[in-house]
Amino acid sequence: MKIALGSDHGGYKLKEVIKNHLSEKGFEISDFGTDSTDSCDYPHFAQAVGEEVAKGTYEKGILVCGTGVGISIAANKIPGVRCALVGDCFTAEATRQHNDSNVLALGARVIGDGLALQIVDIWLRTEYEGGRHQQRVDLITEIEKKYSKEV
Ligand code: RB5
Repeated sequence: MKIALGSDHGGYKLKEVIKNHLSEKGFEISDFGTDSTDSCDYPHFAQAVGEEVAKGTYEKGILVCGTGVGISIAANKIPGVRCALVGDCFTAEATRQHNDSNVLALGARVIGDGLALQIVDIWLRTEYEGGRHQQRVDLITEIEKKYSKEV
């Protein structure tokens, strides 16, 4: 599975931890930055990763900022991205099963590295259930279509 990673300065260190963890497990990883703890703007990295996932170049994306909030809000502006901000294992599983989330957002200042890696592992191995959830995901896509305007 090809995975796109991105973070701002607040998420940089956790992004590196996740990159090493997933590389050791054999995942194909591309890192879209940032490359240091120097202050930067999270929407750039949300956009870079979100566009790749929306295009289908990468099956999934993982984004990290301080809280996970800003970077998830930005990613969810891209049609086709369903970004879930997750801070517990139950939600990591449920958002794959129910929402077919294709981007995971984490808050590096909120959760520790150990929990973050557990969340990543659960989220990556859990399949979407489809069925009754599909009509709800389709309704999200309808909202996107209504408000989408290519620039
Ligand atoms: C950066 O200081 C911080 O605002 C950012 O990492 C994130 O938490 C925004 O939602």
